[in-house]
Amino acid sequence: MDIFHIEGPVRLSGSVSINGSKNASLPIMAATILAPGESSLKSVPHLSDISLCGQLLQQLGCKLTRGPDGDLCIDSTVIDNPVGDYEIVRRMRAGICILGPLLARCGRAEVSMPGGCAIGDRPVNLHIRGLQELGAQIHLKNGYIIAEAPNGLRGKDIFMGGPFGSTVLGTANVLMAATLAKGRTVIESAACEPEITDLANCLNKMGAKIKGIGSPRLIIEGVRQLQPVEFEVIPDRIEAGTFMAAAAITASELRLKNCRLDDMMAVIDRLRNIGVTVDAEGDGCLVTRTGPIRPADITTQPYPGFPTDLQAQFMALLSLTDGNSVIIEKVFPDRFMHVAELNRMAANLRKEGPVVIVAGVKKLIAAPVMASDLRASAALVLAGLAAEGTTIVSRVYHIDRGYEKIEEKLNPLGAKITRQSI
Ligand code: EPZ
Repeated sequence: MDIFHIEGPVRLSGSVSINGSKNASLPIMAATILAPGESSLKSVPHLSDISLCGQLLQQLGCKLTRGPDGDLCIDSTVIDNPVGDYEIVRRMRAGICILGPLLARCGRAEVSMPGGCAIGDRPVNLHIRGLQELGAQIHLKNGYIIAEAPNGLRGKDIFMGGPFGSTVLGTANVLMAATLAKGRTVIESAACEPEITDLANCLNKMGAKIKGIGSPRLIIEGVRQLQPVEFEVIPDRIEAGTFMAAAAITASELRLKNCRLDDMMAVIDRLRNIGVTVDAEGDGCLVTRTGPIRPADITTQPYPGFPTDLQAQFMALLSLTDGNSVIIEKVFPDRFMHVAELNRMAANLRKEGPVVIVAGVKKLIAAPVMASDLRASAALVLAGLAAEGTTIVSRVYHIDRGYEKIEEKLNPLGAKITRQSI
């Protein structure tokens, strides 16, 4: 159980390279199940969630190695145990995205039903309904989803929308299953997140026939088989947004390399709105804040709206404006565990249902705080960079799930973060 000691306030400067996307890598790793043989994935980050996903694939029968240049090689020639174990899926909910590809490849899959987590209930009813529409028989036994399709899956028109809009991993699951279904599938209200676009591009490179990529209507002509692939995952837009917020909260100038601004329009819009400059430069951008920042309202939404995965970090940032901001969470209405922790650092946040009113304060003050989930812990690190004194963040394992050595990236830029193992 590591903890961070973060001395603040600091100014940052310099340049940082953004890693490959965690949330693109996870479903793409699962997609290799569909194509017997060895696939090679570039830019898959070294994160604990990626290792857990690797363990899940190994339990199925896959062989995983990291090549000399860091490529992740997955040999899925043999899949002889189509079971997604509770011990892994309970720790990494994205494990659910092996369900669709396993079912399509093996005609049967047993995957632990994920539980709730710090950001809410997180049901998987839309995943299950989508696979049932493709002809799977699904029931629940001892906490496991048992899915069967002994005679294969059949293409169908499927509406995937739910009470909070589209579902990212639900779309991934049904999309992957549909690539090997007989006939044509239409997924209406598909998630449009760049990570789903990346998955669809990877599947097409494997031989799938998917049209409408990037739109809410995906049209898939099923094929008999897919081939292993060499593929490079996109840069992580959430890591990039976190570093943009780091530049903004510390009134600094940071250069981000390997970052796709086109995937981040809503985030950049909010930054410009509060007085932060974001200029495209090379394969990334220059983020500069010179003066005070203004309050702003943020509503999280499915892509291309403002991402829920940056809500916590922007709450920390807006805590330091001169005025009131309103943050509305429309994807995970309970994703506010960071509110109480930021208030311990002298932020002035008031939660009313899925809304937080952020009354700006002149300064944040260091305190011992506890990370509750991945993005909430990133918000606490950002707050610690700007706060007066030494902030102690416990349960740092949450941040290691989604940020590769964040202190080793921030310290060369001027941060003073020490990791202590206790
Ligand atoms: C993905 O989770 C991401 N995870 C999350 O990132 C991200 O916050 C989320 O999408 C939204 O962008 C990965 O990609 C690994 P959803 P996912 O299904 O797919 C409801 C991070 O910090 N819903 O799009 O599980 C659900 O409760 C993580 O990196 C149903 O009602 O999210 C939520 O309100 C955390 N029924 C909304 O839809 C379902 O069957 C969107 O969830 C599925 C979802």
